[in-house]
Amino acid sequence: MNHGASSRVGRADSPRGPRQLSRRTLLGGAVGSAALLALAACTPTPRFLSPTSAAVAATEAARQTTGAVTKVALDAAPTTIDLAGAQVQTWAYGTIPAPVIRVRQGDRVQATLRNGLPDASSVHWHGVALRNDMDGVPVLTQDPVSAGGSFTYDFVTPHSGTYWFHPHSGTQLDRGLYGALIIDDPREPGGYDDEWVVILDDWLDGVSATPDDVLQELSGGMGGMGEMDGFMRMGNLLMGADSDALGGDAGDVYYPHYLLNGRPSADPETFRASAGARVRIRFINAGSDTAFRVALAGHRMTVTHTDGFPVEPLTGDAVLIGMGERYDVVVTLEDGAFPLVAGAEGKRERVRAVVRTSDAATPPADVAVPELSGQLITADLLRAAADVQLDGRSPSRKLTVRLTGGMAAYDWALDGRAFDMDDPMKNAIPITEGDRVRLTFVNDTKMWHPMHLHGHTYQHAGGGPRKDTSIVLPGERLVVDFDADNPGRWLTHCHNLYHGEVGMMGVLAYTD
Ligand code: C2O
Ligand code: CU
Repeated sequence: MNHGASSRVGRADSPRGPRQLSRRTLLGGAVGSAALLALAACTPTPRFLSPTSAAVAATEAARQTTGAVTKVALDAAPTTIDLAGAQVQTWAYGTIPAPVIRVRQGDRVQATLRNGLPDASSVHWHGVALRNDMDGVPVLTQDPVSAGGSFTYDFVTPHSGTYWFHPHSGTQLDRGLYGALIIDDPREPGGYDDEWVVILDDWLDGVSATPDDVLQELSGGMGGMGEMDGFMRMGNLLMGADSDALGGDAGDVYYPHYLLNGRPSADPETFRASAGARVRIRFINAGSDTAFRVALAGHRMTVTHTDGFPVEPLTGDAVLIGMGERYDVVVTLEDGAFPLVAGAEGKRERVRAVVRTSDAATPPADVAVPELSGQLITADLLRAAADVQLDGRSPSRKLTVRLTGGMAAYDWALDGRAFDMDDPMKNAIPITEGDRVRLTFVNDTKMWHPMHLHGHTYQHAGGGPRKDTSIVLPGERLVVDFDADNPGRWLTHCHNLYHGEVGMMGVLAYTD
């Protein structure tokens, strides 16, 4: 986090900026120790709200609720899955993906994690602006759920849309522990006949390595990698994965499989509907090191929502989805059988499902899909729908977060400081309830990063989409605004699992 910027703003706007004490202390030194003591006594360093504070409970109590309660059992355990005939050991919540959790906006979710894994775990509800003590970040918002232990996540769902859940513990996300959380708004007109959830994933667990092996290999450093223009594998690492849409290096991990709803291309899921039907497809990227470019052969797609929130509809041929992002599209189906494909961006692989409205022959897995190189929709082309635009209020707090580090040293960080998972509040940036926060991500690295903020849905400045996870291209900056209306301690981090794990994370924390 950029404490330079935050403390400047802190001095101007808030009596309790983090540097206030030391600045006063210096002034005090000039006027004598009695004055110093007096000044120090009345300018405490920021006190941060705890996840179990009254403010968190009060915010939850003020949320509109339907009174309905949905109980969910999430049993995390080692399991064996079938990938097109191969038996693979992994960890999952039963199936991959976990069964869709579906509720109405304002319903209360009570999801009990029973941890049958050999390691501590947790469940994070990605994108949901929920009560802080249910956000599922070990040490920061709750104790880790130990092996053999359990924990019930209990929260009211604040906004409709496409969300998902996964552990926030070590590299567990790169196993099979994920699922969709769909929150319906009964007032939304819809305007479609059918709806499919499509979760994309990059897969290696139990096939070529475990995610912990990969993290170790990556942390060993990849000297000279940025200079390579070839395309090659070294162990589980991939060199030369390159994408114009991502500004260069697309990803660094070699995955032997890509999965669409838990299935590889050789055993594709089939979606059936009638020709002429309008279908809403909710895409979720649950991958760890792979952006996906999705397209439906023979069709154009109209993006209607991203990260749960509506946008002005925009039609194109393909959509680019970084890790953690969601896009909802609507398509009107032609007559026939069509591949629904997700290209692993820059990695020269893809996964498909089949969309079928007749008994036409299934197209071969490697059939050309010209839409993949057609008009590409990226978040910067989207505008928030009128009813979810933030009002024109000007920011009362400005923060800058620099994305730093590189492949060679594998020292990904924010503001040059590796996040300490065991001491997460160490460099926390204070924010105050009621602030309109302008957060600028400055990418000082040579690689793209899908940056995510917990507990809030910001808006890309200048009328862009409401989102909680955004691609920040190398050498570029992204400015987002949000209202500080959900007290607690919230992570912001890169959703490349391996970047996050080595330290590309930080905390925004509400002051008391
Ligand atoms: Cu998918 Cu910290 O989140
Ligand atoms: Cu990153």
